[in-house]
Amino acid sequence: MNKELTIMERIAEASKSITTGVDEKDVKHWVTIHIMGRGYKVPADLTILTAIEYAGYKFIKGCGCRQGFCGACSTVYRSKGEYKLKTGMACQTRVEDGMYLVQIPFTPAEKPPYDINKEEYDVSTIFKFYPEVARCVSCNTCTKACPQDLEVMDYIQAIIRGDFELTANESFDCIQCGLCAIRCPSEIVQYNVAQLARRMYGRYNSPEPKNLIDRLKEIKEGKFNKEMEKITSLSRKELEKLYAEREREADEPIESAEAD
Ligand code: SF4
Ligand code: SF4
Ligand code: FES
Repeated sequence: MNKELTIMERIAEASKSITTGVDEKDVKHWVTIHIMGRGYKVPADLTILTAIEYAGYKFIKGCGCRQGFCGACSTVYRSKGEYKLKTGMACQTRVEDGMYLVQIPFTPAEKPPYDINKEEYDVSTIFKFYPEVARCVSCNTCTKACPQDLEVMDYIQAIIRGDFELTANESFDCIQCGLCAIRCPSEIVQYNVAQLARRMYGRYNSPEPKNLIDRLKEIKEGKFNKEMEKITSLSRKELEKLYAEREREADEPIESAEAD
């Protein structure tokens, strides 16, 4: 156990650059990348995120899970000799020789406040908070920009038709990275629109989640406080071991082809 470190210290430790300790003798291939206009030689097999750290930058924003889930590391880049601007997640995109890149630490997108319990379950609510949705010109730029390969234009068109279910399902894997919104010629904030649609659908059109309600009651009553204290005092290694050894539901039996 690692009890002497505070939570903030453990987060800082887990967020340390994974390029620390790269031995240049072991690197066989190098590429040159340009970070905000300045050139750097970096190992060829790094992601954009680790290459930026290798070049000496430290992230205080624009980096989170390092696994493609949190949506924090949006990047705009141009490949050597191309005029086109491309987008991607820095932790999931590998560097290329001659690449020019810049990080977007935050997308300053519009997100009006609302109380989901007071809103009508109707497309008029979407237009009330996001009237610009009606301006969609079906150019599909948002879909092309999405690192999650979501059909962004389709879910926007679905919400214009009032199909909350389709928007909720099609946008379910959105990581809120903002790359669709920064490319939209109609200035639509697709991911916030979809979030409102999912919340409305969940609030008004899903069966009551009895198990969740029971579990929330148990949490409020402090049933898991002891376990939470224990877990938050563990080191990263101990947490990984605990995760690997967790109880799992038995795998579904695989039907034998011979049985047919
Ligand atoms: S829908 Fe937009 S915000 Fe969501 S993952 Fe795709 S590009 Fe990112
Ligand atoms: S980029 Fe904007 S205008 Fe184009 S399809 Fe997507 S939401 Fe519509
Ligand atoms: S750091 Fe979380 S998606 Fe890249």
